[in-house]
Amino acid sequence: MPVVAVIGAQWGDEGKGSVVDFLAQEADVVVRFQGGANAGHTVVYRGQPLALHLLPCGIIHERPLSVLANGVVVDVSALLEEIAWVTQRGVSVTPARLKISDRAHITLPYHRLLDGFREMPPSRSRLGTTQKGVGPTYVDKIDRTGIRFADFTDLERLKSKIAFNWEQKVSFGDGFLLQSGLTADSLFEELVSNYEKLKDFAEIMDTVPWLNRLAMEGKRILLEGAQGTGLDADHGTYPFVTSSNTTAGGACTGTGLPPSRITKVLGVAKAYTTRVGEGPFPTEMPWEQQADLRERGREYGATTGRPRRCGWFDAVLVRHACLINGFSGLVLTKLDILTGLPTVRLATAYRWQGRFLEFLPADSDVLAQCEPVYEEMDGWLEPIGNIRRWQDLPSNAQRLVDRIVELTGVPIAFVSVGPERDAILFPDGGGAIW
Ligand code: IMP
Repeated sequence: MPVVAVIGAQWGDEGKGSVVDFLAQEADVVVRFQGGANAGHTVVYRGQPLALHLLPCGIIHERPLSVLANGVVVDVSALLEEIAWVTQRGVSVTPARLKISDRAHITLPYHRLLDGFREMPPSRSRLGTTQKGVGPTYVDKIDRTGIRFADFTDLERLKSKIAFNWEQKVSFGDGFLLQSGLTADSLFEELVSNYEKLKDFAEIMDTVPWLNRLAMEGKRILLEGAQGTGLDADHGTYPFVTSSNTTAGGACTGTGLPPSRITKVLGVAKAYTTRVGEGPFPTEMPWEQQADLRERGREYGATTGRPRRCGWFDAVLVRHACLINGFSGLVLTKLDILTGLPTVRLATAYRWQGRFLEFLPADSDVLAQCEPVYEEMDGWLEPIGNIRRWQDLPSNAQRLVDRIVELTGVPIAFVSVGPERDAILFPDGGGAIW
């Protein structure tokens, strides 16, 4: 009963999309379990990069079924746009292939507007969100006023829930929502119409017993994490986090699969670090030094196009992720991007007020004051993008990977050296993921 979770070990954008894409070739089901349209997973489809936001990466493969499980928040209009976009490019999206949990919550237009409002200057609580309405949707979920797919069983009740929510929210921020021209009725009508359209492409169902049955039958289930451990609402750099549990525990609550069903947890980390949005980032390079890495690594947000902040590999952050997620193996991505650097730096600990810290402090202000303790290693000049055997990697690249294993205490599952699906190297004796 192989159930493999793929989890980001940094602040998102670790290359989980390409890892899921690779593993999805042999999967029966690929499941998104948290987050919403804030995710940006880039895969290569028919030679072209394709950025997916809500759809699981498995959708581009013929074999696996795709699932948006109960932990995901679904913006139905954004999902319809994404389906139209991928369909135009030849991807088949049908109710037989795409299942959505009736327990999943729905992002409505006012969630997007509220997210944007909070981010507008002179807001003092700006987090640099993707403004996709994800945070406000989870606020309603925890407040027990959220709208779920299950609410479509009684349209009158759904209508009154939307009217209640709208009434609660319009007074917020000097009534700016009223300027949107939206009304409770228009929200209800648009949602019902979008829901009817969605039924042509997805089956809305109780995915919990279904997924558990598939797991018991021994089907290969891939749980596709979005964002990363540093953005987890409990274990990330709060308050500069996303509003869901991005970690392995979130894969259980977000699917209804119990912890005992998960057979492997793969952590994905880049050979360096990036972050989008606000928040502390100890190993961030001075801004003028970031451009080189950003251009080589094409480090621009797949959802917002924002330039990503770039810095060195942070073993403190990844160690923290290893602890929380219990990774069975680490996938190290974008090793090729470091080619040509005379030296490569790794942060092994932080220094704060004369003390050494080996794990992330809870307070973001403390984290912002932390100075990384760096170790420097020699780089390599040879291009490695075409290498497909571990032993052919330059010895300095191998040493870097070995040092990351030592610092994190987790073995390498595989390393990626390029965007192509086969640009993967398994360490000696490795190779079995499922
Ligand atoms: P939200 O998830 O849109 O609420 O944004 C909260 C924080 O998470 C912001 O710093 C975003 O930039 C960050 N974030 C959300 N989704 C992603 C992602 O897929 N990759 C990287 N950062 C993300």
